Amino acid sequence: MQKTAQKTATEIWRQQVLEEHRLLNRTVAELRDFLERPRPKVGKEGSHTWAADLSKRLADLHDLLFRHFRFEERGGMMEEVVESHPRATGQVDNLLDEHTAILKESREIMAAALSYSEGNAGDERRLRRRLTALLDQLGEHERIENTLIMDLAYHDLGLGD
Ligand SMILES: [Fe+2]
Repeated sequence: MQKTAQKTATEIWRQQVLEEHRLLNRTVAELRDFLERPRPKVGKEGSHTWAADLSKRLADLHDLLFRHFRFEERGGMMEEVVESHPRATGQVDNLLDEHTAILKESREIMAAALSYSEGNAGDERRLRRRLTALLDQLGEHERIENTLIMDLAYHDLGLGD
C-alpha cells in the first residue's frame, strides 16, 4: 500500500520534471533563434532595444530555471535517484552544484546585457558567446538528468541495477 503511494509521488515529480524540461527546451530554442538573428543596425528599428530584449529574455529564463531547479532539489527527484543508484551520488552532487553555477552565470550575463553599450561590437560578440556556452551547458545538464530519470524508471520496472 505504502509502495503504491510512493510510486504515485514518483510519477508526479517525474511527469512535472519532464514537462518542465520540454518547456525549458522551447525557451532555450527561442533564445538560440534570437541569438542567431543579427542585431538590427544602429539607427534601425529594434537596434536600441536589442540588449533590453536580451536581458528580458534572460530574466524570464532565470525565473523559469530558479523554480525548476528548486522543484528538482525539493520535489523528491534527487533523493530518489541517489536512493536507487548510490553510485550516481557524485553525479547528483555535480548537478546540484551546476544549478547554483547556471543561475549565477545567467544573472551575470543579464547584468552584462543591461550594461551593454550598443556601439561596442566586441561586447555584443562576448555576450552572444557567453550565452551560447550557458545554453550548451544547460542542454547537457538536462540531458544527464533525463538519463538519470530514465535509469530510475528502468530500476522501478525491475530492469536496472
Ligand atoms: Fe532539470
